[in-house]
Amino acid sequence: MMMLTMYKIFETVDEVSRYTAQRLLEKIQTAPKAVLGLATGSTMEPVYAQLLDDMQHSPTDVSQLTTFNLDEYIGLSAEHPQSYNFYMYQHLFNHLHLPAANVHLPDGLAHSIDQACQAYSAAIQAMGGLDLQLLGIGSNGHIGFNEPHTCFNSRTHVVELSEQTRIDNGRFFTNQNETPTHAITMGILDILEAKEIILVATGANKTNIMAQLFESAIDESLPASALKQHPNLTIVMDREAAALLPKQAYKNAV
Ligand code: GLP
Repeated sequence: MMMLTMYKIFETVDEVSRYTAQRLLEKIQTAPKAVLGLATGSTMEPVYAQLLDDMQHSPTDVSQLTTFNLDEYIGLSAEHPQSYNFYMYQHLFNHLHLPAANVHLPDGLAHSIDQACQAYSAAIQAMGGLDLQLLGIGSNGHIGFNEPHTCFNSRTHVVELSEQTRIDNGRFFTNQNETPTHAITMGILDILEAKEIILVATGANKTNIMAQLFESAIDESLPASALKQHPNLTIVMDREAAALLPKQAYKNAV
């Protein structure tokens, strides 16, 4: 398999978001039945805002689009303001009006959680897999909620969040005790099977991990390194996130 990672490095978060939104819009417009894998987090907020803005100027039929979100906290309902379900409706779905049946999010309150996990990966496969997966990255290199040492062959599963992730994400909760301890996440294999992947990293909090990712071998201690075996990966960064990348990374950057 040919390995191809394209680096796109921009000055500002604004430019990163414009580029990423444009890629999403192009995908939806050229493949109206596309299956998109979507991410949450602060990084994606300006991306979704830009996508909605772009769609104002370029009306786009989303009636046949299908989406699968990467992850969700266990124990938070869809109405909880910090649930990823709530986030997605707030930042995207309340404005995009996809058919409800086409929107998929892991259920953080599922009773038979292992069954729900299996059903989630099966549903992705039943749709023919993900056409494009959008990803952020945790400061410890997690993708979705696949923490360091997650098996690269994993499907949707329950994870115990690492201390680092609970500290990072604690900023959204009133205190650390409220930060969930567990989550459901699409597995690394589910992600790797996407036909196209765009990973977005912005800000100083991502500088170290992006340098580590660039240098790293493909190794389960750094979940995002699994992406290095993907044939169609774009890594989009602002200058801050890319600040410690060696010059050779910039050679490919446009
Ligand atoms: C969170 C989510 C990831 C997200 C990442 C980065 O914990 N589980 O899906 O991509 O961490 O988040 P942020 O964009 O807020 O830095």
